[in-house]
Amino acid sequence: MSTTHKISILAGDGIGPEVMDASMLVLDAAAKKFSITLEKDSQLVGGAAIDATGSPLPEETIASCQASDAILFGSVGGPKWENLPPEQQPERGALLPLRKKFNLFANLRPGVCLPSLTHASPVKNELIPNGFDVLCVRELTGGIYFGQPKSISEVDGELVAIDTMVYKKSEIERIAHIAFTAAKARDNRLCSVDKANVLQNSVLWRQTVIEISKEYPEVELSHLYVDNAAMQLIKQPGSFDVIVTGNLFGDILSDEMAMISGSLGMLPSASLGNKNDNGLYFGMYEPSGGSAPDIAGQGVANPIAQILSAAMMLRYSLGETAAADAIESAVDKAIDKGLRTGDIFTGKEGETKVGTVAMAEAIAEAI
Ligand code: IPM
Ligand code: MG
Repeated sequence: MSTTHKISILAGDGIGPEVMDASMLVLDAAAKKFSITLEKDSQLVGGAAIDATGSPLPEETIASCQASDAILFGSVGGPKWENLPPEQQPERGALLPLRKKFNLFANLRPGVCLPSLTHASPVKNELIPNGFDVLCVRELTGGIYFGQPKSISEVDGELVAIDTMVYKKSEIERIAHIAFTAAKARDNRLCSVDKANVLQNSVLWRQTVIEISKEYPEVELSHLYVDNAAMQLIKQPGSFDVIVTGNLFGDILSDEMAMISGSLGMLPSASLGNKNDNGLYFGMYEPSGGSAPDIAGQGVANPIAQILSAAMMLRYSLGETAAADAIESAVDKAIDKGLRTGDIFTGKEGETKVGTVAMAEAIAEAI
């Protein structure tokens, strides 16, 4: 007997809907093969929700997410909504509240460059002969993103802006546990990134990570200042296994990681809350790339980030490990066969350029 998993599907804007549709071909194929019953509820989010309801995150969407085991998210935003006040824009008005509301404090962003795709990376290929595989664990609900006070006001006749960086020790401890656990399941190396030469937040961060490391003696812990980490990522991405860092540094470094891996269109992400009684996480899963309005609606976007996000959802929120493994190896098979969407196509011998749906069909077939 299989359990029924409830998922909220929030496709959003730009390429969101088309890569989401494509990912359903793969998710459904995996569900069929492993006798998984999925109850899907599609809801509006982002610019699409603004157009239909006036709000980037309607109550109905929140209610659907609350009733689900996981959220599969596409992407939000685009030029149409860029001139709205910041707090009403799709990104700030939907993404940040969803993270905070569901306490999704742990953001896992894999930065993988497959050996067969090193030529798509802007990093000199002699520096990454075997590609690389880094996991960024970013704290997602604290730090300067959410600290109070946060304001722009007039002081002594001029405008003054304030953002506050705050970390409680408990917030650092819980993200450190996630990162050490992830490192244990990989290559046992964790690099904590901070700015402890300047910021008090980082002094506490480093001290706390060192304390927690005592519980994980098998994991080798190192520390880098964020400016140096940004350099080392370009110089020797292969030297990293897992990186753990705060919200703002993680935002920046994960984009750098995504860029050097060759294509944003390949990278999924997971934002997780606390573990429930079944040892699973409520989570939101989304491609690392954005809504790519420039190519939206053309059927050329790479659906792999969305497909791998669905795999992460199966793994972390639904406990369907075999189905997650099957999707991940089906993606590898499609790449090995030479199938390439435009973002990873270089015209090398053996490559075939395909669109969004053809790529997803090939992956579904390989399951
Ligand atoms: C991300 C994005 C968001 C962030 C923006 C859209 C608010 O850049 O998910 O990395 O800064 O966290
Ligand atoms: Mg970002």
